[in-house]
Amino acid sequence: MKIGKIIVGAILVAGVVTTINAADGAKVFKRCIVCHGKSAEKVPPGGSIVSATLSAEEIKKSLRLYKTDKNHGGKMKVNMQTQMKTLSEEDIDAVADYIFKNFHIAK
Ligand code: HEC
Repeated sequence: MKIGKIIVGAILVAGVVTTINAADGAKVFKRCIVCHGKSAEKVPPGGSIVSATLSAEEIKKSLRLYKTDKNHGGKMKVNMQTQMKTLSEEDIDAVADYIFKNFHIAK
């Protein structure tokens, strides 16, 4: 069954891609620890929100806004804007999923 093989192949490829993303998320997150804590459990200096209480979608949206909208954020936004300059779209998704999956704190 050729179709069956193609489907199995696609699932395997998807699995590998997900695994790579997860690894990248952990790697990217190392850069956040100094301000957000090792489980994203701290309020960053001058900030007001614990990242671990946000959903993955909220984290992604927030990171993309820091990256693209210079008016987004509070008085310490420049910290995040600097961080986001060197994060790719894939890094943003990976780190947000990583934080949510591993550290999420229900509000
Ligand atoms: C130099 C310290 C610093 C680093 C490093 C840093 N952040 Fe932040 N982060 C802050 C500060 C300060 C704020 C609040 C900024 C504001 O006033 O808008 C913030 C805000 C955020 C927010 C918005 C909601 C919240 O939690 O306050 C998210 C989400 C976030 N950071 C995620 C990350 C991620 C993911 C990384 C790593 C890729 C990271 N940050 C790295 C200092 C930092």
